[in-house]
Amino acid sequence: MGKLSFPKDFLWGAATAAYQIEGAWNEDGKGESIWDRFAHTPGAIFQNQNGDIACDHYHRYEEDIEMMSEIGLKAYRFSVSWPRIFPEGRGKINPKGLSFYERLIEKLLEKNIKPVITLYHWDLPQELEDKGGWLNRDTAKYFAEYANLLFYKFGDIVPIWITLNEPGVCAFLGYGWGWHAPGKKDMKGAFIASHNLLLAHGLAVQAYREGGYKGNIGITVNVATVYPASNSEEDIRAAERQDAYGNRWFLDPIFKKEYPKVIWEILEKNHWNFNYPTSDWNVISIPIDFLGINYYTRTIVAYDEQDPYLKIKRIPSLNEHTEMNWEVYPDGLYDILIKIYKEYQIPIYITENGAAYNDTVEDGRVRDEKRIEYLREHIKRVYFAIRDGVDLKGYFVWSLMDNFEWGHGFSKRFGIIYVDYETQKRILKDSAYFYKKVIEENRVIED
Ligand code: FCB
Repeated sequence: MGKLSFPKDFLWGAATAAYQIEGAWNEDGKGESIWDRFAHTPGAIFQNQNGDIACDHYHRYEEDIEMMSEIGLKAYRFSVSWPRIFPEGRGKINPKGLSFYERLIEKLLEKNIKPVITLYHWDLPQELEDKGGWLNRDTAKYFAEYANLLFYKFGDIVPIWITLNEPGVCAFLGYGWGWHAPGKKDMKGAFIASHNLLLAHGLAVQAYREGGYKGNIGITVNVATVYPASNSEEDIRAAERQDAYGNRWFLDPIFKKEYPKVIWEILEKNHWNFNYPTSDWNVISIPIDFLGINYYTRTIVAYDEQDPYLKIKRIPSLNEHTEMNWEVYPDGLYDILIKIYKEYQIPIYITENGAAYNDTVEDGRVRDEKRIEYLREHIKRVYFAIRDGVDLKGYFVWSLMDNFEWGHGFSKRFGIIYVDYETQKRILKDSAYFYKKVIEENRVIED
């Protein structure tokens, strides 16, 4: 039984996002976001649920920080709601919105928990969506203005900044498939949105550098390690396309100033010719300090003639799956860390990793053994990656607490803290105690 010890300053944390936990959707001057609008649209979300109240974190943040402290978190990753700061997306500032985050940050610092801010976790101000949202290039400029205000306010006390969370999900699920806000279904539009998101990221990094702040700034992307279904040449090529589209679409522009060619060529064949100004590339590729990656599962793909664009199909695996129907595949985390580090040579944080299970409370306790198993196995892979040379700085569990899981509403529980949505009572799950021990001892025990 090995004891796998982590580097001394390894940053153990947990993550959340504003729309998923805050509630108070129209309080204290907050403007409407695309997620407010989308969730209020009948049929968009499981059982027509919405984040109007969610975990009521806006009013209960102090209690929540006490719990973080109880778990021993060294860092807390949360997102700022853009329309809380700029109710109309730009122009008029809402001081009460700023004050909420100021109080939150101060309380975290008081408890010795490092605040890690995500500037954009999908809740675009609705007023900007009305002007085209991420299809509109100007949104990138407005994002930089918003980012700049937050740097100015909190740049000296917040050490780690993440520009965007999972731009791919925002562009493709929001503008391509219509599963997420704003619910648009136009694949060409999704590619345009993805470019404007990259531009927004670059402009924010530029503003941060110009401000001379001493902290670190990066971006978070979601990755799913891709494996070919067989050793056939066709399947191997299919896996390369999936990797380029699913994992590298945002990374190659930032680190290599280009979109992955295999996908670009497919777009061109489809007569989707995007002519982006060359100056965009200099902004998009401004060096960042770290890369945040969110990892949950892997993808197995095979060649599929029927598929109109990428010519791929997903092959299900027989391994265990979580409540999201995502395969539990810890080795995929190790594999992708090695691959990404080799390719881009950048310090990495795991900004999200975790699992949804159907938790129940029995005698005041949540025995979430499967989540503990999931976390242990993945944290072990984090250790192996560090051992094998990856510059991995920290790990954030998704999520601190059960919350509004986008289209799934409250039906998927990812928290290490259980939330009873009727009473807003919180209970530390067994996984929270497991994680507390990992943090305390700065190691994980190999079972
Ligand atoms: C990620 C999101 C996060 C949460 C987890 C389960 O894609 O960033 O908000 O929904 O998945």
